[in-house]
Amino acid sequence: MIKLKTPEEIAKMKRGGEILSRVLSMLMKACVVGAHTVELDKLAQEEIKKAGGTPSFLNYKIHPKDPAYPGAVCISINDEVVHGLPEPDRIIKDGDLVGLDIGMWYEGLATDMAATVAVGKASSQAKRLNDDTRESLRRALKVVKDGAWIHEIGMAVEELLEPKGYGIIKELCGHGVGHAVHEEPQIPNYHERGFRAVKMKAGMCLAIEPMITTGDWRIRQLNDGWTFSTIDGSLAAHWEVTVAVTKSGYELLTPWPDAEK
Ligand code: MF3
Ligand code: CO
Repeated sequence: MIKLKTPEEIAKMKRGGEILSRVLSMLMKACVVGAHTVELDKLAQEEIKKAGGTPSFLNYKIHPKDPAYPGAVCISINDEVVHGLPEPDRIIKDGDLVGLDIGMWYEGLATDMAATVAVGKASSQAKRLNDDTRESLRRALKVVKDGAWIHEIGMAVEELLEPKGYGIIKELCGHGVGHAVHEEPQIPNYHERGFRAVKMKAGMCLAIEPMITTGDWRIRQLNDGWTFSTIDGSLAAHWEVTVAVTKSGYELLTPWPDAEK
């Protein structure tokens, strides 16, 4: 069952999403050479608390057997795709490609967003991957509308990125969001015939999140029980926003971070 949100719930998510975007913008600015990832996480926890929210990733488990997630933000560097852990000894280096993924409970509802930062003298390949991943999210948003198919999102991402030779992660998807961190429907970033056809409806709240690599799409999970890395060591980027589906398109609940406006 895909739960629709009421206009009141969507208004709450929008208030939360605006705060979340502000916190993510701060993290992006703080993500510089020499920054400790655990300090970035501390900043995220403090800012969320100050704003009256609760970090939704902290102590979260996707599956009951998962270890509880130890932070408010996922920090995934270079060949790490998503769910990288904040760690005390981990320091951002010049040229790193850093994914920052953050979620928050606010007035009883969850929003979710992510951005990737190419730090300092990152390679042109890293910057291009990052720009193209963000652009694929923009293209994906264009298909969102009451009556459209969920799988049109994956088709839009594929249409832009496959000809450029990128890998599109298949094992991880976007998702519904709001009453829980992860809800139905699953939102793949690629398309295959045989996917169950799900129609978008006004009031659905969706976290759309292309995860893209410069090489192969295959990933593995590290022994920490969370971090996903590319198998071939290629670079990965990740962008995510939360939207509410409307009759004419969508309402952006997590505004693009400052630098992207
Ligand atoms: N935004 C992440 C996702 O949709 C949520 C990560 S849950 C965490 O996969 F516990 F890893 F933080
Ligand atoms: Co998400």
